[in-house]
Amino acid sequence: MTIYIDDDQLLFHLQGNNTSYVMQVIRDGYLAHLYWGKRVHSYRGSNKIIFMERGFSPNPDASDRTFSLDTLPQEYPAYGNGDFRIPAYQIQLDNGSIVTDLRYKKHRMYKGKPKLKGLPSTYVEDDNEAETLEIIMEDRMLGLTATLAYSLYADRDVITRSVQFDNQGSQNLKILRALSTSVDFRDDEFELITLYGAHINEKNIERRRIVPGIQMVDSCRGASSPQQAPFLALVRKGTDEDQGEVYAFNLVYSGNFTAQVQVDPYRNTRVSIGINPFDFSWLLEPGETFQTPEVILVYTAKGLGDMSRIYHDLYSKRLCRVPFRDRVRPILINNWEATYFDFDAEKIEQIANEANQLGIELFVLDDGWFGKRDDSKSSLGDWVVNQRKLPNGLADLANRVRNLGMEFGLWFEPEMVSIDSELYRTHPDWCLQVPDRPHTLGRNQLVLDLSRQDVCDYVIKALSDILSDAPITYVKWDMNRHMTDIGSMALSPERQRETAHRYILGLYKIMEEITARFPNILFESCSSGGGRFDAGMLYYMPQIWTSDNTDAICRLKIQYGTSLVYPPITMGAHVSSVPNHQVGRMTPLETRGYVAMSGNLGYELDLTKLTEEEKEAVKEQIALYKEIRPLIQFGRFYRIFNPFDGNEAAWNFVSEDQSEAAAYYFKVLSQPAAPLRTIKFKGLHPDYVYENVESGELFGGDELMNVGITLSTIKQDFSSMFWRFKKHSV
Ligand code: DGJ
Repeated sequence: MTIYIDDDQLLFHLQGNNTSYVMQVIRDGYLAHLYWGKRVHSYRGSNKIIFMERGFSPNPDASDRTFSLDTLPQEYPAYGNGDFRIPAYQIQLDNGSIVTDLRYKKHRMYKGKPKLKGLPSTYVEDDNEAETLEIIMEDRMLGLTATLAYSLYADRDVITRSVQFDNQGSQNLKILRALSTSVDFRDDEFELITLYGAHINEKNIERRRIVPGIQMVDSCRGASSPQQAPFLALVRKGTDEDQGEVYAFNLVYSGNFTAQVQVDPYRNTRVSIGINPFDFSWLLEPGETFQTPEVILVYTAKGLGDMSRIYHDLYSKRLCRVPFRDRVRPILINNWEATYFDFDAEKIEQIANEANQLGIELFVLDDGWFGKRDDSKSSLGDWVVNQRKLPNGLADLANRVRNLGMEFGLWFEPEMVSIDSELYRTHPDWCLQVPDRPHTLGRNQLVLDLSRQDVCDYVIKALSDILSDAPITYVKWDMNRHMTDIGSMALSPERQRETAHRYILGLYKIMEEITARFPNILFESCSSGGGRFDAGMLYYMPQIWTSDNTDAICRLKIQYGTSLVYPPITMGAHVSSVPNHQVGRMTPLETRGYVAMSGNLGYELDLTKLTEEEKEAVKEQIALYKEIRPLIQFGRFYRIFNPFDGNEAAWNFVSEDQSEAAAYYFKVLSQPAAPLRTIKFKGLHPDYVYENVESGELFGGDELMNVGITLSTIKQDFSSMFWRFKKHSV
């Protein structure tokens, strides 16, 4: 990895192991994008920009009608001086004008990768892991600079980008748009992949050809949302799991975002991603700075599987943080689908007792333990124990669970307040609201105004009090509605449109503080499942409840889609009861187990109601998972059959040293006269001989990958198969 800089030509070549990214300051200080793709040894400019006159494309230099920003591939384009495509930023001056003009001022390069102030980001542990290039662009008239930061990792095909605005002038500036990245490609031979969904149907993979015009996904819900993910990839036609070019963009941010692709009339493609400019502005007073979130750019010529493994490796090693980054995650039992709000200490102890006997390691007490909460209508914000349900308090219950030999975890929804709560009665101004309008409720609750320091302080104190009072080693941090009536009683009128972003900054501040105060608590993020499953949250909480949909068959797609970007160790996956509570389906316990064992295994059902036979099966699942857990949680993940394509799904895990593998196959519906299928495993060492742990059979890695195993037919819907291989030592 090296960042080559030609100081005479102001040419910057970010050269990774397999990828090159090149830009250059061309005439008059414009920063042009020249190339991103497969690594080139030495860039000498074979793909020169062709300057030619294009109709209706304006010219900043009156003497040259061939030069127009409208056709120039750029790094951080503006609006207002000739480029009519989507701008990367837009800033309003005191006089109301929105025309700005950033030109190259200087650059600097250094080893390592800086933290972003107030925002989550990927990191390095040693400065030799990455190099950072900062290109400082300036609008001289305004005294405004934009520092474009690029970090190149040494051993990963990853480039990160972010931008910092500095108002060094004397007038107030209003940022109307500040995206994190814009990249111009000189063709449009791409398909676009995005992840869309809904509550209980997250992370569906959408793939479509791009066409002239704008194709956009976004969120204006105050959270990254289950509806669209802050991710997009451009792929060449024919790209599949194992081959083909991929250009991927993932934003490390948990709030409103936009991710868009624009094909211009000359078939150039512009991709940009960042904070959603819709309902956003930011007043930047003289001397102030504004930092955009980070975006992770991944290029590979080896298909979507490789793209995912690049993200997985980066996120599990350099986004999630110690100590839990490096620890196997406990197998948990959660009481939500077992009891919902209807429980007491005795019931919890019964389930915990059963769980302990089956080998479960952590009991998680879900919603309903606080205030006077018996349904979703009250008490959010009142983080004091519900005396009726838990008369001896939380510490007593936690100690009882711990005396059984398990850890104790607790659910919170810290960002919310119920109208029926002491907190709301005392501080009605503490929720998001606009003057003189009634509240819009969601799940009967309101959103606390985390743009306010006093509200953040309250949340930190309320949580800290509970977490210090009882032996709690895990927290499930839920968030169950999106923002409406977005406004803050504490912000001036001209800052109202800062509220949603300030909320996210407040949330990050709270999570930073709480996780620092309680470093030995494992935090799991949740937003009615995968409603805020994003890289921003993973920085603070190394695992996320993937979906409120626990049906094993629905989960095939949800987990497969989530795995496009996020590693299996981050995905909470639970075995629940049948008929399934979300879709009513009856699936075999074995299949439920294998699906949940493909992520971070947990159980979410009333274990006291299982038959002896079922308990035995669960015990075996848990024992198996404990054996393969390091492989699942720290191994490499390979997708084999895509559940979005049809009736089956398959994937396998391989340990980093390739000495172990585990593979799963799922068939949705049983078929008459079904064709025979062969599964070919991936990522094994071709020269190793592997032993099938169950049957003792020996096969070469190359045979398992190229010849594969022919599957026997099973006369049952929702069936599954599992294999374990270990390197055979001769
Ligand atoms: C939504 C979560 O996703 C569920 O698992 C559960 O914790 C409920 N909230 C509780 O209200």
